[in-house]
Amino acid sequence: MTTQEIYELAVKIGIKADLRGAKGVKKYLDRTKVKYEKMDKEAKAEFDKEKLTNPYSDTRILVSGNKKEIKKVMVGVDMEGAEMLLAKHFNSDLVIAHHPEGKALADLHSVMDLQAQVLADYGVPINIAESVIKPRISEVSRGVSPINHNRAVDAAKLLKLDFICTHTVADNLGARFLYDLLKKKKCDTVGDVLEMLKEIPEFKEAVKNNAGPTLFTGSPENSCGKVVVTEFTGGTSGSKEIYEKMAQAGIGTIIGMHMGEEHRKQAEKYHLNVVIAGHMASDSLGMNLFLDELEKKGVEVIPVSGLIRVKRFKNK
Ligand SMILES: [Fe+2]
Ligand SMILES: [Fe+2]
Repeated sequence: MTTQEIYELAVKIGIKADLRGAKGVKKYLDRTKVKYEKMDKEAKAEFDKEKLTNPYSDTRILVSGNKKEIKKVMVGVDMEGAEMLLAKHFNSDLVIAHHPEGKALADLHSVMDLQAQVLADYGVPINIAESVIKPRISEVSRGVSPINHNRAVDAAKLLKLDFICTHTVADNLGARFLYDLLKKKKCDTVGDVLEMLKEIPEFKEAVKNNAGPTLFTGSPENSCGKVVVTEFTGGTSGSKEIYEKMAQAGIGTIIGMHMGEEHRKQAEKYHLNVVIAGHMASDSLGMNLFLDELEKKGVEVIPVSGLIRVKRFKNK
C-alpha cells in the first residue's frame, strides 16, 4: 500500500463507523461544499480542500513521498521526536500517530461539530447541542494555537519518514464498537457497564497497568438508564454546560475516554453516572480496528507509545 492509500482507507472506514451514520456525514460534507462555493477567491485559495472529501480535520497526511511501498509502520498514540528516531531505528517506512500533529493539530477544533450531531441523535435538541458546543470549539481553537504543531513533522521530514495521523477516524471505530456492544449487552446497572468494558481485551490489559475503566461519578449499584457513548470521539472534550441538557434529554450514563474535574463536577451535579473507560486503552481500541485492516493487506505494524495492540483477525 502507499501512504495515500492508507490515508484514504482510514477516512473511508472512519466514515463507515461514524455515529452520525453515512447520511449524516454526507450532509456535513455537502454543507462544507456549499460554504466553499460561496467563498471569494482569496478564501478559496486558503481553504484546506481535503475538507471537501474528508470530514475529519484531525486526520491528515503530514509527510509523504519518501517511500513508494509501505511495508512497515510504527504506530503509537503520541508520536514525537523520540518515536521518530525509534521508527528510523526499526526501519519503518511510515509513522502513524493517533493524536493529531502538525496542521491536523492546529485544526483539531474543526472536527468537533460531530459532537453536536451525535448528541442530537441521542435526544438532545440539535439547536441546544450546537449552541452549547460553539463557544467550546472557539476555546479549543485558541487553546491549540500556541502549540509547536510541526515539531514531530519536522523530525519525520529530516529522517525521511512518511507520517500521517488518524485521530477521529480511529475514535469513531472505537465509539462504534462500544455503541454496537451496548445494543447487544442490555446493561441494567452501572456495574454492568463497567463489567462489559472490562471484557474487552484492551481494557483488560489496561486494568493490569492500573489504567482500566473506572467510575468518575455514580456507583456500581445505580441503574444505568440510557447509556451513551458521547465522550469518545469528536476531537476533544466538549462543553461542561452539556450535562444539564443531557440529563434533561433522558440520558443516565455516559461512557467517556477521559474527563477533567470541572466536567466531572457538572455531570455529578446533574445526576449522571460517568464511566471512564481509560484514555490509552480507548485510543488503542480504535487504532487496533484500523490497524487490523492494514495488517490484512500485508503491512507490518510495530506498536509503541501507549498503543496496546490487540488483533481481531487470524493470519491466514
Ligand atoms: Fe482518541
Ligand atoms: Fe486520545
